[in-house]
Amino acid sequence: MNHSKIHAPTDDAIRLAAQCLARGELVGIPTETVYGLAACALDPVAVAKIFAAKGRPSSNPLIVHLAELSQLSLVTAEPLDDAIAAQVDLLSVLWPGPMTLVLPRSSRVPDAVTAGRDTVAVRIPGHEITRRLIRQCGFPLAAPSANRSKYVSPTTAEHVAEGLHEHVAMILDGGACDCGIESTIVMLEPDGATLLRPGAITREELALRLGAPVRLLAPTTDDEDLVAPGMMREHYAPSTPIRFFDPTQLNDLPARCGRIAFSTPTSSGTQFSSETQCSSGTQCFEVFKVLSKTGDLDEVAKHLFAAIRELDAMGLDLILVDSCEPSGIGQAIMDRLNRATARIH
Ligand code: TXA
Ligand code: MG
Repeated sequence: MNHSKIHAPTDDAIRLAAQCLARGELVGIPTETVYGLAACALDPVAVAKIFAAKGRPSSNPLIVHLAELSQLSLVTAEPLDDAIAAQVDLLSVLWPGPMTLVLPRSSRVPDAVTAGRDTVAVRIPGHEITRRLIRQCGFPLAAPSANRSKYVSPTTAEHVAEGLHEHVAMILDGGACDCGIESTIVMLEPDGATLLRPGAITREELALRLGAPVRLLAPTTDDEDLVAPGMMREHYAPSTPIRFFDPTQLNDLPARCGRIAFSTPTSSGTQFSSETQCSSGTQCFEVFKVLSKTGDLDEVAKHLFAAIRELDAMGLDLILVDSCEPSGIGQAIMDRLNRATARIH
């Protein structure tokens, strides 16, 4: 794989990245959630390159990344509706961080970014390198996750190079992402908030901050006019078939099978052991990946996409992945895995 465009985030590299972005080129950027594929958010020609590089439908809008709260009025309607502004005040304390707010837009934001909607998705990422880059640029950055459309999101600079090397001018290496799962997306309207995508900031936390319940989105379809256009059911899928691990179905597995476990299996586990033996005694897992020794779900989220990518590159017949309670960060983990396992092979 070609790593020649990956740069350590020195002052010079950040300056160079800002110059590339000002010229309308694409740059891979680190964030605390996943890596982004960035372009100048105010340049529709540059933004069009993002859609082409990802193979993303132009109906699926992008998130605009800011360096600080004072830049919000650059991209949102001015003034914001009072009831929306009050909610922004309560939630913006979570910035910089893994939260995206969908707000009424300013006409300064090109239609290419918002897919012609009257809202814009905004966030201040919790990665210092990228906030420095945005400050250096002097303009906001539109950035989706830096993966080919419908593939697993990237959590390292190498993942970005794997999928998009020929499309980027450079990739800033900010290390492995801390959260490992895309930001929580919340739409704010005068009558309250709606969760569009679960993430590390949970619905419970949002409701607590707002002092009001947060609505959930109705079940998704593939309709282009969805409120959350990127939330199609079949998303985040590796090319290898992937299913949830079921200890009662271990004797029917294909020849080359990998398993992603959320915690270290205990030796008292009934159906299998970490020696990767099935109950029948046959070797059933070619690879056995443990995401967190103790089953800590923050750690699971951090390592999940990298593990899926690693196993996907092994040419296995099947990947079996654990599941968890869909609460707290578990809601975001199960959201991504339900999508990944939804593909019919
Ligand atoms: O953590 C993240 O959010 C990462 C990093 C790079 O910031 N970005 C990311 O972008 O996940 P992307 O494009 O992969 O997902 C953005 C989601 C899509 O599902 C898109 O449909 C939704 O945000 N979105 C963007 N603008 C929207 C809008 N105006 N209304 C509703 N949904 C919107
Ligand atoms: Mg994405």
